[in-house]
Amino acid sequence: MSNLKDILINKKTCKSVWFMRQAGRYLPEFRKIRQLNQNFINLCLDSDLSSEITLQPIKRFDLDSAIIFSDILLVPYALGQNVDFSKNKGPKLSKFEVKTFLKVTEKEFTKILNPIYRAIEITRKRLDESKSLISFIGAPWTLLIYMFDLKKENELKFETLEKEKIEILHVKEKLINFLCIHIRNQINAGSDVVQIFDSWAGLLPDENFNEFCLEPNKEIVEFCKKGKIPSICFPKGIKGKYETFNKIVKSEGINIDADVDPEWAKQKLKNVVLQGGLNPKFLLDPEEHIFKKATKYIETFKDTPYIFNLGHGLLPQTDPDKVSKLVNFYRNFK
Ligand code: CP3
Repeated sequence: MSNLKDILINKKTCKSVWFMRQAGRYLPEFRKIRQLNQNFINLCLDSDLSSEITLQPIKRFDLDSAIIFSDILLVPYALGQNVDFSKNKGPKLSKFEVKTFLKVTEKEFTKILNPIYRAIEITRKRLDESKSLISFIGAPWTLLIYMFDLKKENELKFETLEKEKIEILHVKEKLINFLCIHIRNQINAGSDVVQIFDSWAGLLPDENFNEFCLEPNKEIVEFCKKGKIPSICFPKGIKGKYETFNKIVKSEGINIDADVDPEWAKQKLKNVVLQGGLNPKFLLDPEEHIFKKATKYIETFKDTPYIFNLGHGLLPQTDPDKVSKLVNFYRNFK
């Protein structure tokens, strides 16, 4: 059984480390491929390159898990929306057309995303058996944010949400079905664990938290449980509501963000394997500072099943050498 599965299912206490955005712009070997492939969507849909990029951080740092190189926005893309990553201002999606969306069939959706499944197949063959291969989806709320352009910089456009709520809720239901199909396809292709990114959960007002965060995550986790697929949820930015989230959603794992106090998490988040927490900004600091901050997480979770990771993705300006030193520090920590 792969490392991550053993921790999530059997609650094994052993060392395990991987990083969100471990394959990405901070790696020169990634930038080299990226430069030759200006269209990000096409790059994600090139199975050989996707597999190669997925394995880059494993070769460099010998991490315990690989996460397939893809993006959460491939799902809206497969559901008919144009996705543009070209400017350095974050992704831009074409206007959501409900008619196009409702016409997409499971077969068409799977066909468009087939290169991702192929990339998983190839990668699983190339990856050592002891290592895990993680696949992922964006949680419905986080995808709806992009699909309906519901935020301006880091603020929710609450009026747009209110005005288009009936349509958004309707779309949410079909989106959940397609996300479950995408999970099933990725697992069938050979991934062992799924991570569910709800990166914008923290923007939700309390009154909408249940319908857009708790319920959809719960529905997807229940789907995973039926298929014996271990899942790790990452509802970023929800502060004290991590406790409710854990009680209701009941995923095998939860990734905490950098605002969550690890001591608090250890006491309040029961019957779940915790992952991450360390602020990726600390990796821009001198080594001693990184080690000091990392120690807090490693010490706190020493005798519990815990997956060492970050509170969000690695930043593009991170020095890969610091990542390597952090991995060694964690591995040698006694
Ligand atoms: O973690 C990994 O190494 C696997 C690959 C991965 C990517 N995106 C590749 C990527 C994963 C798991 C994601 C998830 C993702 N994508 C999320 C959830 C996690 C999070 O960061 O909050 C979100 C919100 C997205 C949407 C997205 N994709 C944004 C906002 C951007 C642009 C800003 C940014 O961070 O780069 C992307 C582009 C993207 N996705 C890049 C990579 C390596 C950079 C592409 C480039 O310009 O080279």
